[in-house]
Amino acid sequence: MGLLSGKTALVSGAARGIGKAIALKLASEGANIAFTDLRMDENGFATEKEIEAYGVKAKGYVSNAADFEDTAAVVKAIHKDFGSIDILVNNAGITRDGLMMRMTEDQWDSVITVNLKSAFNFIHACTPIMMRQKSGSIINMASVVGVSGNAGQCNYSASKAGMIGLAKSIAKEIGSRGIRANAIAPGFIETDMTGALSEEVREEWAKQIPLRRGGTPDDVANVALFLASDLSSYVTGQVIHCCGGMNM
Ligand code: NAI
Repeated sequence: MGLLSGKTALVSGAARGIGKAIALKLASEGANIAFTDLRMDENGFATEKEIEAYGVKAKGYVSNAADFEDTAAVVKAIHKDFGSIDILVNNAGITRDGLMMRMTEDQWDSVITVNLKSAFNFIHACTPIMMRQKSGSIINMASVVGVSGNAGQCNYSASKAGMIGLAKSIAKEIGSRGIRANAIAPGFIETDMTGALSEEVREEWAKQIPLRRGGTPDDVANVALFLASDLSSYVTGQVIHCCGGMNM
């Protein structure tokens, strides 16, 4: 028996990166996994296969997390296929960096919509299901820069600060229904998203990290497992930093 045996977890944007690591971690503790992404390409099919290797049910769905109707439809399909939704991980996210002076309206809108509105879309669709079940754990993927701010990332930082406010508000609204909501604030994690950065920028980041290394997707997945499971049964409305101490 794993920590999550018999539970269903829904992870958005999980064909690769941190979302994939979370999907695999939750599966390793017995959860059935429904995940979404913009495409089901070789990444998505590989993720599906790797999850199934844990002996749980896995299915990837093509869905744009930024789209309200699309999300409502995919949540309905997942509920029909899996029978329950116990854990929701709002992970889908993008960056479109630039200084405020040069930022376009499109850069602002796309990041706020994909990173923040997506979580509203999923929470809106999943909470009626969780309320009927009288239990649920919602995890919003924030970022250290949602707390500290970051030059060149005003759109991204604002979206991630929003993810924290959203988790706290949901925690207050429906804690009495047995539903918990928390946020994870990762620091510098080695994924495709950060892989695009130059060696110089990476070295600069490492200097700010007491543990002197970037995190791995698995480091973040361990925190997600804690928040998804009953190990955190008395934890709600919190932000857990997973950043090697760089927020101090
Ligand atoms: P990634 O770029 O490797 O993976 C993101 C996934 O989300 C991709 O598979 C992508 O196709 C999917 N996605 C993007 N837009 C989508 C949409 N509209 N609908 C559905 N899926 C969509 O990124 P990574 O690094 O794995 O990041 C995952 C989350 O963690 C993001 O929310 C990111 O902001 C957050 N994060 C990442 C950090 C890092 O250092 N990598 C640090 C702090 C937070």
